[in-house]
Amino acid sequence: MHYPLFRPRRLRETETIRRMVRETRLSVDALIMPFFVVHGRSVRREIDAMPGNFQLSVDELVKEVKDTAALGIPAIILFGLPATKDAVGSEAFARDGIVQQAVRAIKDSVSDLVVITDVCLCEYTSHGHCGVVEQGRIKNDPTLDLLARTALSHVEAGADIVAPSDMMDGRVAAIREALDDHGFEETPILAYAAKYASAFYGPFREAAGSAPQFGDRRSYQMDPANADEALREVALDLDEGADMVMVKPALAYLDVLARVKAEFGVPVAAYNVSGEFAMVKAAARLGWLDEERTMMEILTAIRRAGADLILTYYAREAARILRQQAG
Ligand code: PBG
Repeated sequence: MHYPLFRPRRLRETETIRRMVRETRLSVDALIMPFFVVHGRSVRREIDAMPGNFQLSVDELVKEVKDTAALGIPAIILFGLPATKDAVGSEAFARDGIVQQAVRAIKDSVSDLVVITDVCLCEYTSHGHCGVVEQGRIKNDPTLDLLARTALSHVEAGADIVAPSDMMDGRVAAIREALDDHGFEETPILAYAAKYASAFYGPFREAAGSAPQFGDRRSYQMDPANADEALREVALDLDEGADMVMVKPALAYLDVLARVKAEFGVPVAAYNVSGEFAMVKAAARLGWLDEERTMMEILTAIRRAGADLILTYYAREAARILRQQAG
């Protein structure tokens, strides 16, 4: 069956026929919108390298979250900036911490929205690392209890799903145990399972004020050169009780995403991170790329590679386009 018998172009001739044979469909149901919450009132501070994204006080956040939910986006993920930082990141697990306040406010005013919280210490620690520091090293086991307390405080405030992003070994088990011990055995864990030590987090660290004050995160986040190891990380997190797993970043790690989906068949999320967003924004501003087409192509590619869910700063723009397309 060679040319001229088989002509692939036959199925590309019109938009209608292309639509019929399309393999991957981007849906608003897959989108998760990240937000950054700060103390104060009426605060809307735009993040330099992330146009259209703001550090928001709770009152402003609630408004934006309502608009997001109204677009049909099913879930958001929250990151918090504390009033003060200390060595152990105390505000991360404080009852009245910023994320805990934000979750309560959102749950009071927006219905049918899944509220996910990022569970990590780096925004809250004075040294900016995701774990406890002793003699200049990031200690694994002393961190687990703090992460478990953080997750529990989020769930007590009303969070629907907790998403640990710290990359300490054993944290999924520690969080699962803490939740179960307090009657939250029904609350799912979305584990940032394969999270790489990536340069693509640059804009986020400005947004979340979470840059490490010494060294880097390479002793706990993964080496970008490794893919087999990602499968091991995912297997461990699933063993410890993770309900969903994440690959992060997305675009430079589509091979990892495809392997994770094929190997485990569990719900997989991909984080289209701040640097990936900033690259498209910057090129679009220079007139070098068509923003809308580039964004939709990237999100479709992430889905095609195996992501069921996509965390993306483009969630609202994409949802608007998908709505238009649906007519
Ligand atoms: C916190 C965390 C980071 C991101 C999500 N959670 C930053 C980091 O690990 O330094 C990055 C998200 C993004 O770049 O959009 N541990």
